[in-house]
Amino acid sequence: MCGIIGYVGPQNAVPVLVEGLKKLEYRGYDSAGIAVIKEGQIQVKRVKGKIRDLEDCLKDSVLEGSCGLGHTRWATHGRPSEENAHPHRDCSGTLVVVHNGIIENYLPLREKLQAEGHTFVTETDTEVIAHLVERRFEGSLEEAVRKALPELQGAYAVAIISAGDPDKVVVAKSGPPAVVGLGKDEFFISSDINPILSHTSRVVFLEDREIAILERGGVRYVDFDGRPIGKTEDQLSWTPLMIEKKGFKHFMLKEIFEQPQVVRDTLQGRISQGSGKVYLDETGLDAVALQEIQRVVIIACGTSYHAGLVGKYFIESLALIPVAVEYASEFRYQDLMLDKKILVVVISQSGETADSLAALRATKKSGALTLAISNVVNSSIPREAGAVLYTHAGPEIGVAATKTFSAQLAALSLLALFLAQIKGRMDDESSLPIVQDLLRVPHQMERFLADSRRLEDLAQRFLVFSHFLYLGRWVSFPVALEGALKLKEISYVHAEGYAGGEMKHGPIALIDEKMPTLAVIPRDRAYDKMMSNISEVKARLGYVLAVAFDNDQEIARHVDEVIRVPSVNSLLSPFLTILPLQLFAYYVAARKGADVDQPRNLAKSVTVE
Ligand code: AGP
Repeated sequence: MCGIIGYVGPQNAVPVLVEGLKKLEYRGYDSAGIAVIKEGQIQVKRVKGKIRDLEDCLKDSVLEGSCGLGHTRWATHGRPSEENAHPHRDCSGTLVVVHNGIIENYLPLREKLQAEGHTFVTETDTEVIAHLVERRFEGSLEEAVRKALPELQGAYAVAIISAGDPDKVVVAKSGPPAVVGLGKDEFFISSDINPILSHTSRVVFLEDREIAILERGGVRYVDFDGRPIGKTEDQLSWTPLMIEKKGFKHFMLKEIFEQPQVVRDTLQGRISQGSGKVYLDETGLDAVALQEIQRVVIIACGTSYHAGLVGKYFIESLALIPVAVEYASEFRYQDLMLDKKILVVVISQSGETADSLAALRATKKSGALTLAISNVVNSSIPREAGAVLYTHAGPEIGVAATKTFSAQLAALSLLALFLAQIKGRMDDESSLPIVQDLLRVPHQMERFLADSRRLEDLAQRFLVFSHFLYLGRWVSFPVALEGALKLKEISYVHAEGYAGGEMKHGPIALIDEKMPTLAVIPRDRAYDKMMSNISEVKARLGYVLAVAFDNDQEIARHVDEVIRVPSVNSLLSPFLTILPLQLFAYYVAARKGADVDQPRNLAKSVTVE
């Protein structure tokens, strides 16, 4: 959950590195730094704070060089501070390293190196890497790196430069992502493709236990045993413009409004409007093996977990296959009763979440079929799963997931229909009504978003509250969970999502006029029971803000305020009911002056366990 970047080429590396770090800032932003080589000297500049603080610090400096590294940090070992900011140096100060991941055995390594006379100046795990490479350096930086790596335990994407072997960036990957950018006589390394996009669309994704050596003349690749390896080049389809804010105040708001198109893009080419047939051949799913599956296990974290809970209702309702949804971080401690009759679906928009990757790896020996649902092509989880269904949400910069959630719902609805058709539970004709409802969803999302300005004023009236309860039943229960997560992660206001029926088993004790309840209550099979829950809240002087269908004539008499969304097939209502909850969270946070796109303590991709 840090961001690393490296450059070697004809340009002054400093602006390239700083601009690149801005595009990585959503991965971690409690400190930042860069290092460049010039005339055999390594120059380093680091700050506690954000990239803009680093920029301010660089304004008066003469830092320049054509080879360098940059890093933006999300602290794991060592508090956020200038001295703990990367890049970290060896004793001689002629070699520096930037690192994303965790070195689990850094303490014994540090003690051993100190006993050998190495001097440490930081509290970080990363610094051991600089000293390990230093003690192996005999002129070839890649050889020194390669000989140092076997001593490391843990996860790392690490990049190193040395004044002793200038004009060279060496990067090694074992766990967190690292991607090489191939420009015209200039080469880049980065934690993800965003910083590379503005320079080149030609990329090479490193696999675990691979090393890339970026030099003026090109890039070489070797494995951890030093054997040269061939790597295939990918051509990126994303454009820099897709990353810009396009006039929105925050990326998160832009991405909320992109959701209708994102759902369209994810459905496009995979579903037939005329026949209702779903086509997922591109995923690599084995249709014959799928006919035998008896159970689906969905594994994910955070918002992706909430999408998985919605997917459970899709798959059970349409394909009549039982679904279990598990937190990735918990799944690994279970007795894995998996076999080839089970489909494991790992949902991860980044494709790099360590907990989810580890859970996927834990299923490998079981013989279960595996499918990744991810938004980043060639990221680790899609690469290691047996099949992959990509969402087409485009780059999501806001740390709070919004459009990738909707894209995941679209992907899961396709999967549910595909399984229903494969298992003979639905044929093309009987699929048609739900398919047509699904294809109408983007338009109905647009209708709501086009008329959503009132959410800003509404949110203003709730700034005074410090606690919120979100309730939903059936397919709206995960929506309540996701709405609560959105509010707490960007506005730092406490919010709990709860199954409506569970409220009377405890949380009702919290209800009073100081704790508003947001009730997600579309016209569905749980409507009447949700109305009872609302009455229970009102009876205890609780304020109720309901999210309901626009054709619901009854709800207004029972609640304090209603946010109306276009009515849809109730099974598909999460596509609509999540929108006001996302906007509510956004406007509360924005009005509070919170850092909406980069909330404190969070990172876009949690690549440590
Ligand atoms: C959601 O807004 C958060 N950014 C976080 O919960 C996120 O959903 C979670 O870390 C999973 O990320 P992934 O989808 O990239 O695996």
